[in-house]
Amino acid sequence: MERTLVLIKPDAVEQNIIGNIISCYESAGLKVTALKMEQVERKVAEEHYKEHYGKSFYNSLIEFIIRSPLCALILEGKDCIDKVREINGATNPKEQKEGTIRKKYAKGITENCVHASDSVESSEREIKIWFPNLNNKK
Ligand code: CMP
Repeated sequence: MERTLVLIKPDAVEQNIIGNIISCYESAGLKVTALKMEQVERKVAEEHYKEHYGKSFYNSLIEFIIRSPLCALILEGKDCIDKVREINGATNPKEQKEGTIRKKYAKGITENCVHASDSVESSEREIKIWFPNLNNKK
């Protein structure tokens, strides 16, 4: 079964909307198979976002991700990578559709409440970063 890594980012935890966000995924038939809450160390945030190193928003993105606790979770289900990205909505606020998590709750392009893996390869890479003790042999 396909799986994906989701982060419920510090801005969403601060808004007390963890439950609302998880409901969106569960209502779509996806299953939470791992879940943790922590204030993440800088080196983990940097590993997760290494593809963005050097971009104009990189430093503010890292400061944002480490500023307060976040939730990391694994979701499983058919086509869950595409489904979760649809439920989350676009990164660019101008492209966000009504009913998506980001349209409802995001404050901007960086403080956008949720992250989700964009491919099978990135989901497996990200799951290993956030849940290194799981059986990652899928
Ligand atoms: P996420 O899906 O976690 O992937 C990379 C993150 O970088 C993205 O969500 C946003 O939080 C942030 N981001 C992406 N593009 C920009 C941008 N142009 N300006 C500021 N932040 C961005």
